[in-house]
Amino acid sequence: MNSEKPVEELSAAEAEAELARLAEEIAAANTAYHTHDAPEITDAAYDALKARNQAIETRFPHLKRADSPSDQVGAELAEGFSKVRHAVRMMSLANAFEDADVTEFDESVRRYLGIENTIAYTAEPKIDGLSLSLRYENGQLVTAATRGDGETGENVTANAREIDDIPHRLEGAPDILEVRGEVYMSHADFEALNTRQAERGGKTFANPRNAAAGSLRQLDAAITRDRPLKFFAYSWGELSEPLGETQMEAIARLKSLSFDVNPLTELCSGLDDMLRHYRAIEEQRATLGYDIDGVVYKVNDLTLQRRLGFRSTTPRWAIAHKFPAELAWTRLEAIDIQVGRTGALSPVARLHPVTVGGVVVSNATLHNEDYIAGRSSSGEQIRDGKDIRVGDWVQVYRAGDVIPKVADVDLSKRPEDARPYEFPTVCPECGSEAIREEGDAVRRCTGGMICPAQAMEKLKHFVSRKAFDIEGLGAKQIEMFYADEVLPIREPADIFTLEERDTRNLARLKNRDGWGETSARNLFNAIDERRSIGFARVLFALGIRHVGEAAARLIAQHYGDWETFEQAMEKAAPLEGPAWDELMNIDGVGTVMATSLVTAFAQEAERASIDRLVAHLEIEPAEQVQAAGSPVAGKTLVFTGTLEKMTRAEAKARAEALGAKVSGSVSKKTDLVIAGPGAGSKAKKAEELGVEMIDEDTWLEMIEGL
Ligand code: IVH
Repeated sequence: MNSEKPVEELSAAEAEAELARLAEEIAAANTAYHTHDAPEITDAAYDALKARNQAIETRFPHLKRADSPSDQVGAELAEGFSKVRHAVRMMSLANAFEDADVTEFDESVRRYLGIENTIAYTAEPKIDGLSLSLRYENGQLVTAATRGDGETGENVTANAREIDDIPHRLEGAPDILEVRGEVYMSHADFEALNTRQAERGGKTFANPRNAAAGSLRQLDAAITRDRPLKFFAYSWGELSEPLGETQMEAIARLKSLSFDVNPLTELCSGLDDMLRHYRAIEEQRATLGYDIDGVVYKVNDLTLQRRLGFRSTTPRWAIAHKFPAELAWTRLEAIDIQVGRTGALSPVARLHPVTVGGVVVSNATLHNEDYIAGRSSSGEQIRDGKDIRVGDWVQVYRAGDVIPKVADVDLSKRPEDARPYEFPTVCPECGSEAIREEGDAVRRCTGGMICPAQAMEKLKHFVSRKAFDIEGLGAKQIEMFYADEVLPIREPADIFTLEERDTRNLARLKNRDGWGETSARNLFNAIDERRSIGFARVLFALGIRHVGEAAARLIAQHYGDWETFEQAMEKAAPLEGPAWDELMNIDGVGTVMATSLVTAFAQEAERASIDRLVAHLEIEPAEQVQAAGSPVAGKTLVFTGTLEKMTRAEAKARAEALGAKVSGSVSKKTDLVIAGPGAGSKAKKAEELGVEMIDEDTWLEMIEGL
């Protein structure tokens, strides 16, 4: 064994043998980690193997193996699960943290539907596991898929078949039935699994949720068989026939088909009843034997659920009422400032590690300078005005999956020499002035793209999973290319000229440390694959402030293709006029987002950078929602007058779900006006312009059954 011998002292023959040994050892470590979820060596030992391999290859380039571990950039991603596109999107849930949020939920449901009376809701535990969609065709289980991004999940069918609670065959089920629910692990099974893993020297899990996820999302079904997973059914996707008329009936039907449904599911009549059941479930939380993190309320009547429909990622008819977060005290060791892609200076608390709800926490967000100083952004006191100082004992909490936060300070334990924190007024990354605009809680670096942190964060966002998702080009590689003098990536367009620039270079990528012929080729191919890409992804990838994934999707759906959108943004530049009104009229787009979007396209440097990028792309138009079979897809509609059968909000949401654009004013571009009693000037204008006009009943007939 030459593993102890310094690389400089190896002979060529020794180096060759050593490279062979390292290739084998690294491959074994990869399999143990990725396939068996049971690493056999520590991360540090793994890194040391890779580093030694790299050092030998640098000294003896001609001995580099065809299967060299250093060429396997992103190898763990390459072999994985196949993808499954969900027939019906898998949604997540909006959250309520306080009783008042539940009151608001109930009111908004009734307001939307125009119902004043009490509405019935189901209330059931929110299981802390991972969601799974099971597709049965003619009673046979055909696919099981994780949620993924809601549209596409991972195919985990082989693993799901190993879960006892999941039937392989159903008697008397609809021809097409997608059952959705939560995979979880009980406390007892989790403890036993961790004990077994520890005895074998394998990986132990931080909490039952991670154990369930790790056991389902791994490639060897035999391992899932060994791990005692359970499944509760609580929802459904595609169906060839309804499961019932109410949520309760549908759940009873799933139960009769032999699925486990949660026994604490109850029908509640209105708000007080819901909150009563919430407290009852909360009291039983500690003795249930599995983790739950809240209570889910769902409108019971499925006709009402259908009328309420969905926002971009969550149903309007359901909400998760979360339990209060778990808390722990620890010492604040330092405050660091991170600069984000929009220039925001974000203070991060570096904590003495502490376990909060089964997870070790060593960092927490401190939000902004006001938060540290003990006041809200509107100037009111928070934490009774107590500021946060380095050296303080602070209370940390986690709510669900979100980043840990600092809630409180123990002044009795404050060290005598602790000084108030001075928030920087220059960017720690580029030295530019950091300013705080009026009404903004956040101080921002004014360096723009000259600030390496901003430019780099923007690029990292650009290549992230929900944006361009380029295999082999993650955060680590972006950092490397950003700093590269010969082959730099400083803005998104540079990614798409990388190969061309590489061929003109003497220091070719394939000859660099950590790269080889195959990995360079793989990267260029992965980049090429993304030259053709969907509109919504491109818009999201630009990282424009306030324009998140859901908003990008809505905007893309509204404008359809990139050219139309770009022209509309130019026309909306004065922040008023018809193009501006059209943007503001999109459900889910408010003034702040619209201003940020339009301003980005109006700024010369930013626009030029976008144009340079777009020149390399073929941007696919957004898929029109339910365009097929919808008589209003792509049409512009105006509602005016009083609607009697549904509220204005419902009418607008329904029309948009059918692919229509809903505008507030009648113009030459209007295709259809739906006029109720009392319609005034808009109806008159429609008549003048010869726009088709119908009443509410005709509208309802037109969309019935869609
Ligand atoms: S209903 C369309 N019910 O919570 C609504 N979800 O935070 C579908 N979850 O993605 C969800 N227990 O994975 C529903 N009783 C329950 C649930 C539940 C846990 C999960 C589910 C969802 C997530 C949203």
